[in-house]
Amino acid sequence: MIKPLMRLTAILLLCAMGTALADEPFEPNYDEAKIPEYTLPDPLVLQDGTAVTDAETWKTKRRPELVKLFEEHVYGRPPAKPEALHFETLDNEPQALDGTATRRQVRIYLTEGSDGPFLDLLMYIPNEGRPVPAFLGLNFNGNHSIAADPNIRLNMNWMRDKGAGIVDNKATDDSRGTSASRWPVEMIVKRGYALTTMYYGDIDPDTDDNFQNGVHAVFDKQVTGELAEGDPRPTDAWGSIATWAWGLSRALDYLEHDADIEATRVAVLGHSRLGKTSLWAGAVDERFALTISNDSGCGGAALSRRAIGETVARINDVFPHWFNDKFQEYNNNESALPVDQHELIALIAPRPVYVASAVEDTWADPRGEFLSAYYANPVYKLLGTPGLPSESTDPPTVDEPLKTGTIGYHLRTGKHDVTTFDWTQYLDFADLHLKK
Ligand code: GCU
Repeated sequence: MIKPLMRLTAILLLCAMGTALADEPFEPNYDEAKIPEYTLPDPLVLQDGTAVTDAETWKTKRRPELVKLFEEHVYGRPPAKPEALHFETLDNEPQALDGTATRRQVRIYLTEGSDGPFLDLLMYIPNEGRPVPAFLGLNFNGNHSIAADPNIRLNMNWMRDKGAGIVDNKATDDSRGTSASRWPVEMIVKRGYALTTMYYGDIDPDTDDNFQNGVHAVFDKQVTGELAEGDPRPTDAWGSIATWAWGLSRALDYLEHDADIEATRVAVLGHSRLGKTSLWAGAVDERFALTISNDSGCGGAALSRRAIGETVARINDVFPHWFNDKFQEYNNNESALPVDQHELIALIAPRPVYVASAVEDTWADPRGEFLSAYYANPVYKLLGTPGLPSESTDPPTVDEPLKTGTIGYHLRTGKHDVTTFDWTQYLDFADLHLKK
């Protein structure tokens, strides 16, 4: 009798310990001295150990290899562009912004007919100088949140209860214009760019719901018949970041179709989780001419191996749907990852990329974001572009942007946000690379 009792006690004890461990609040490390020793994978060495010394080998071997590694171990694989993709213009107002711009709202249908899911793209296009280059970015709270313009359609899809005017996961009129400070439409239009944006929840609602809705409800392999209904989700199936990035590519499909936009000069940008998304979109879709990451942090620009601030384990714990299932294997095990995030930046080369950090945004590891840009540099150089104009592994002086190369970077005063300072640098950087 004693033995089974002891075993039972031991099991109960272990269970209790397990629960205690799982329930332990996450204590982020913010001490550089406590960062574990790590070696970054070399973007210019193939998996078989061969050095990449010319642009051709980068293009035909290493780049495709890295895309595959990120798909398999981090973000997941997206489906192809849907053949049935078609568009409908819902609104066209040529006298927007005091007659300087046209407001256009376009519905992007992903399947035959007009049943969902569809994506609603809002555009403000300067009336002069067309076709114009454009910024494309996803928004957190619906197109109607980016400007107080009452003619912007109110998004009726599910929304996280974050932000003013969202009640029971639905937007109300009170949420109009609540994100306007992050979207300086007049300033962008004045500088000769169109601003184009979509709500990220149109593509995939940002909640861990086992991928039952959004575009997953139509394009997941169990739905398309590529897998049987009861089959488990493959460990490399697309997580939400890959899904949102795929949605950005569908918006670019539309922009290619709009005569007022110069689709070969589109900058994709995003903040925070949507900055992770813009980086992945810019990495895989080479049609994006410029990529901007605003405070993207863990799973975005920040190096995973530094494990300072937010870590892989923590992000997978709180946001398990953002990445593929394989990524879970790297919880507290970052050095086993065959890639790190500087290689995500390198995938954008030779196209320009801008990484932005904020001093108070320590959760996103500003230094790790800078180092990713720094360690992507050899690829930019190999491809014959100037890369990052810095020889130092230290971030530049606060509020002094590095914006003359093909990799831009700044560390701004202040918190996790998108500000006019950020936009000023993006516009300057775009002037350098996207203006004719
Ligand atoms: C959380 C998350 C970050 C993310 C941010 C955001 O803070 O931990 O990884 O970038 O949300 O998207 O707002």
